[in-house]
Amino acid sequence: MIKLIPIGRLRPGMYIHDLNCGWLQHDFVRNRFLVEGEDDVRKVRAIGVREVYVDTARGLDPDALPLAPAAAPAAAPASGEAPAVRTGSKAANAFERARALHREATQIVRDMLVDIRLGKQIELEKVEPLVTRIVDSIFTQQDALLPLARLKQHDNYTFQHSVSVCALMTAFARTLELPREIIREIAIGALLHDVGKARVPDEILNKPARLTDAEFEKMKNHVVQSKIILQATPGISDIALDVAAQHHERHDGTGYPNRLKGEAISLYGQMGAIVDVYDAITSNRVYHKGMPPTEALRKILEWSAMHFKPTLVQAFIRSVGIYPTGSLVRLESRRLAVVQAQHADKPMQPTVKVIFHTAGHYLQPEDVDLRRSQDQIVGYEDFAVWNIDTARWLPS
Ligand SMILES: [Fe+2]
Repeated sequence: MIKLIPIGRLRPGMYIHDLNCGWLQHDFVRNRFLVEGEDDVRKVRAIGVREVYVDTARGLDPDALPLAPAAAPAAAPASGEAPAVRTGSKAANAFERARALHREATQIVRDMLVDIRLGKQIELEKVEPLVTRIVDSIFTQQDALLPLARLKQHDNYTFQHSVSVCALMTAFARTLELPREIIREIAIGALLHDVGKARVPDEILNKPARLTDAEFEKMKNHVVQSKIILQATPGISDIALDVAAQHHERHDGTGYPNRLKGEAISLYGQMGAIVDVYDAITSNRVYHKGMPPTEALRKILEWSAMHFKPTLVQAFIRSVGIYPTGSLVRLESRRLAVVQAQHADKPMQPTVKVIFHTAGHYLQPEDVDLRRSQDQIVGYEDFAVWNIDTARWLPS
């Protein structure tokens, strides 16, 4: 994997993939090489770059090393055009807060599922403040929380999926201009929609392969269990119950558990179905690779002929954007860029961070508002195909 690290973290044994300074003079013959000793580290620092790309497949992984004591300050850049990747501190705080909230929410859902396994009830008063913060975060800056939905670890999948569905449902409900009190109930239902998985055996829940038919039947039962658990939760609303109990129903009546059809599925159940599928197919699992978000939206639109209500799918696409924040796109200029922010009035022209040229080299990162640029998106791209670290380039 290619990682961008501050120059202070460079150590002998790491493999430099790109010196990140094509516009500067340096006396290394090549741009890619193994850092053999402290002497090489000193020489790289002397170039004046602040960050370099290292290839963890060919050398030491900086994240696998113990944190170094205070790194030596980088030498001053040789020109005024130093790589400037970070955004302003106010925006950076919003992204930091979103990351902290995502972590905390994942932990709370994990604890809740453990409690349910122990036979305890859900205490709504513990869930509500968390949901309020998620809803507030989406209303304040949805581009901070939504891209985190795609970063899931295998053993955390169930909990992170719940948090993602909560964030996505809130954004969806906001696009539909539903009242804030209803959005809050939808978000509670979304966060709790899979609590029934606490009653599915771990070996089925975390099976690193496709389920057999018998296992799938047990897995499907999580919806019935979610409903039972939530019905026993004091203070739960009908809206939250609908999200949980109907998130696997399908518009054409092919869903489960009740094979409800069309408008027999509540608006909240229909929304839950779209969001649940979107989050599941864009996530990497052991047995399948997540789809790029734009491709997932295209698929869901295609399936909406049978499974979902097309007008609702279109509203969902408006809420996350045709090119969702955090996705990788190719520009007409043959540059690759990561979407950083949506503009509701111009869904085809988000703000992007240009990072890579399809000729095969990284570029000095640059934020480009495509509404004010001659350049335009020509298609989506897959991070894995280009061996680019997804997490590194999320808005920050
Ligand atoms: Fe589910």
